[in-house]
Amino acid sequence: MLIDLRSDTVTKPTAGMRRAIASAEVGDDVLDGDPTTRRLEEQVAHLLGKDRALFFPSGTMANQVAVATLSEPGTEIYTDQGAHIVEREMAGAAALSGVQVRTVAGDGPMMDAASLSRAFRPFDPYLPRATLVCLENTHNSAGGLVTPVAGLRAMHDVARERNCRVHLDGARLWNAAVATGNTLAEFAEWCDTVMVSFSKGLGAPAGAVLAGDEDVMRRANETRKRLGGVMRQSGILAAAALYGLEHHVLRLAEDHARAADFAYVVDRAIAATVMPPETNIVMVDLAPGLDAANVARKVAREGVLVSVWNPSRLRMVLHLDVSEDEARTAALALLDALDEAWRELGDTSDWPVVLRGSEP
Ligand SMILES: Cc1ncc(COP(=O)(O)O)c(C=O)c1O
Repeated sequence: MLIDLRSDTVTKPTAGMRRAIASAEVGDDVLDGDPTTRRLEEQVAHLLGKDRALFFPSGTMANQVAVATLSEPGTEIYTDQGAHIVEREMAGAAALSGVQVRTVAGDGPMMDAASLSRAFRPFDPYLPRATLVCLENTHNSAGGLVTPVAGLRAMHDVARERNCRVHLDGARLWNAAVATGNTLAEFAEWCDTVMVSFSKGLGAPAGAVLAGDEDVMRRANETRKRLGGVMRQSGILAAAALYGLEHHVLRLAEDHARAADFAYVVDRAIAATVMPPETNIVMVDLAPGLDAANVARKVAREGVLVSVWNPSRLRMVLHLDVSEDEARTAALALLDALDEAWRELGDTSDWPVVLRGSEP
């Protein structure tokens, strides 16, 4: 049996979720509307404290529709340098919305209010105008770190001073809420639009929602249709999302605890540094000379799949389909693979044996 830690998107619908899908009440969402999709949209709009929510086939499409709705062609948008919107959406902001993306390097692991404020150009009629700031919470490439509500509010205030709207990529906002005890609405209050995804920790096969006020969502609905994002019997997918909302949100705390245990075990490796996880993502940075792809191959031979995030970084994501025992087995396998890769690097013979466990 493989233990697949490449992403929380690899989760397969549970038996209960499959039953909910099979019994979903559906309709044509372009003609008369789909009742299950309406129920999902209303529930999520309520959870986020927004007027209206729209169901999308993917988080990527929902993010891109938000960018198109809140920005203007020929202006600039600001994101963290590692944001999904800039790293993994095929330059969609440029291709679909005609905007220039300015990426911001945070003072710490992520963009914050101070780094965002510094990044803005001076107001000048002959410099590009900014229209939108895109935030991400939790932050995937920063290792699932949470921006607390106060941090979101501070970035919102900086954006407003510059006449910018704010979009939040909250693909894993559920994790931020469970980790902090804040409600989704407390995070969403500081954003004009919020995207939340059902196909990550909540275990649904696909789907995301974009929520905002009535006027913004009316325009987002037009763009969604233009891109072919309105689905017909979408209740099949919405039923899975509703099931995930009901059964899989609170259990995210288990993923967070397993991520912490996983990190604790792997941190014993002398050939790597582990970022202390705040949610379900564990980033492991390898010592100079070690190759992440090589370590990933070694651990795959033991039945554990991990993501090569970059040549010196591995990413592991804990999720619904990984039990406590499997998480431990995977952590020990990675520890062994790291030790083996370290020994191969040179004549370090028994270093790991001597040093392991000597750190507190
Ligand atoms: C932070 C973040 N935003 C957006 C997305 C896109 O979601 P989707 O795969 O549904 O397009 C992902 C997917 O992994 C993500 O991690």
